[in-house]
Amino acid sequence: MRVHVFETSDDLGRAVAARVGDELRRNPSAVLGLATGGTPLATYGELRRMHAAGLIDFSPATTFNLDEFAGIDASHSGSFRRYMDVKLFDSVNLDAHRIHFLNGVADDLDVECERYEKEIEHAGGIDLQMLGIGANGHIGFNEPDETLAARTHRVQLHDQTRRDNAAAFGGDLSRVPTEALSMGMGTILKSRAIVLMAIGARKARCVERAVNGPITTRLPASFLQLHRDVELFLDRGASSLLVRPA
Ligand code: GLP
Repeated sequence: MRVHVFETSDDLGRAVAARVGDELRRNPSAVLGLATGGTPLATYGELRRMHAAGLIDFSPATTFNLDEFAGIDASHSGSFRRYMDVKLFDSVNLDAHRIHFLNGVADDLDVECERYEKEIEHAGGIDLQMLGIGANGHIGFNEPDETLAARTHRVQLHDQTRRDNAAAFGGDLSRVPTEALSMGMGTILKSRAIVLMAIGARKARCVERAVNGPITTRLPASFLQLHRDVELFLDRGASSLLVRPA
């Protein structure tokens, strides 16, 4: 894994946005895997700025988001779809037909997961997958467990994860869905390149274990060690437990 460390979250966001820009210049019709949460906010801010300045063209690109809550629809203020509309989609020239999202209110959620997996395959797979990391080491919504699912699947969210997501539901834990849909570990690992972002000392322990620890289903991010093209974009806090050469 290649590790890049930045002084501020804005610097980190600029670097990840530049990485996305490079990808789209090399391959204008790239398939991008997108993440939500607080960590990518600076990246999306910079991508909006780059687009407004005419520095990046999303029109031939395709996107797939990693995950979505079950039981709430796209218009719900806590949905990841709404987050993406506000933070990126409404401000750039992505073709609406090439924006892909899991539908958390589909009639049959298992069929919905199969549909999504097939659509990713049909698009030729993901070229560049952006990831955040949960405080418990989850990626997407692949929660630590005895086993992990390879393909897109339904997930029971851990209490910690629900608490971490409560802000988007007015801070009211009882309003945070208990279930979600997520790309699986195999779906993520099939991406041609992966960028994992982490900000803050709160993430330092799981970042260190993901990089140096054993590969274990108890820390889903540790499976990234099996991938040949992973870059970590960290701030000082998140990188603070990684031993760097003097
Ligand atoms: C959620 C998302 C993850 C994200 C994580 C971290 O659980 N499903 O994809 O990486 O939050 O969020 P944050 O960046 O706010 O710490």
